Amino acid sequence: MRVCVVGSGGREHALADVLGRHHEVVVTPGNVGIPGSTPADPETVEADLYVIGPEAPLVDGLADRLRAAGRLVFGPGADGARLEGSKAWMKEVVSAAGVPTAAYESFTDLEPALGFLESLQPPYVVKTDGLAAGKGVLVTDSLDEARRGVADYLSGSAFGDAGRTVVIEEGLVGPELSVLAVCDGTRAVALAPAQDFKRIGEGDAGPNTGGMGAYSPVTIADDDVVADVIDRFVQPTLDELRRRGIDYRGVLYAGLMFTETGPRLIEFNVRFGDPETQVVLPRLRSDLGDLLARAAAGRLGGAPEFADDAVVTVVLAAEGYPVAPRTGDVIRGVDDARALEDVSVYCAGVAAGDDGVLVTAGGRVLNVCGRGVDVAAARAAAYRGVAAISWPGLVVRRDIAASA
Ligand code: AMP
Ligand code: GLY
Repeated sequence: MRVCVVGSGGREHALADVLGRHHEVVVTPGNVGIPGSTPADPETVEADLYVIGPEAPLVDGLADRLRAAGRLVFGPGADGARLEGSKAWMKEVVSAAGVPTAAYESFTDLEPALGFLESLQPPYVVKTDGLAAGKGVLVTDSLDEARRGVADYLSGSAFGDAGRTVVIEEGLVGPELSVLAVCDGTRAVALAPAQDFKRIGEGDAGPNTGGMGAYSPVTIADDDVVADVIDRFVQPTLDELRRRGIDYRGVLYAGLMFTETGPRLIEFNVRFGDPETQVVLPRLRSDLGDLLARAAAGRLGGAPEFADDAVVTVVLAAEGYPVAPRTGDVIRGVDDARALEDVSVYCAGVAAGDDGVLVTAGGRVLNVCGRGVDVAAARAAAYRGVAAISWPGLVVRRDIAASA
């Protein structure tokens, strides 16, 4: 098959890499570090299967346009992508589906929002209704900070229109888990579970980011836990979408928190996680293209098989991320890292500088992946790779997967 991957980050590099084991792959627009990248508009690229990485084009209806042109597409239409495009709608759908999730209300006006906030216990959780690149979630023990957040979101000063509706939630506490399910409109199969590290700082300090690292497998998530996530979270949501006339073919990514009273849904994403994809897909034993093509055609087969080993990825970010990343710094050592045993490097925010050197061009720049017999070995490999790479102002968390 010829597969067209849409997107330009580390997730798309991993998708292209793993699809490339069995298929010809073109990535649009990709980036200078991803083989097979082309600036062409995906709607002009000929392929047997289209795999859409990021949420924005999904919310914007790219899958619908490709399907209308008779293409085979892995990724939900704009109707299903609203699960991620509007947190208030997502909450309404999962409540109707009976999925266990944090209590919430959504608001467009300041006074009632502050009134609800003050009725809650810390941690206070304030979210933009719309897309904010993983950064629109404020979790804080300070009522004052939460109040300011609500005011900044609603006024549009923090996240523009994405924040003019806010969702205020009950604050949950516990370990988190990402389960990515591949859906064919009716049925879902789980990929290997992963855990990601959302905060910029070590010890989970500082603001939320798109994700600073991840690992797979996850000890708290044995096969029974994953089966339970499909049965009580993913399948009821897929059924509820169907009742509403939505034929959901793509990844349904359940972000869960394991509280003292059981697992709760924190969010649904409508795409592969970034950087979870970078640790989950390399462990896949079977043909990824076949799996995604079957889902896209509404004909999923059995559950995919994963290797018994582990992968850890560490995100290398630019100074200033997640607020205002500095760009244009020369990146050194990528080839040295790749030459190390059990180390691979996926490219995210990179561009070509003078003489073809790689320079930083985004917040999250590289994903350094280590593979090993267990998480500790994979982690050691990943950090060996990290040590080989440098640029001025490089930001890295040293504690990715340390507690695993
Ligand atoms: P989201 O983008 O909705 O996944 O939120 C980003 C991060 O904020 C999550 O991974 C959690 O760490 C945290 N978070 C989101 N919702 C809650 C909640 N209701 N209670 C506690 N933490 C939350
Ligand atoms: N790693 C979190 C996300 O992809 O949203």
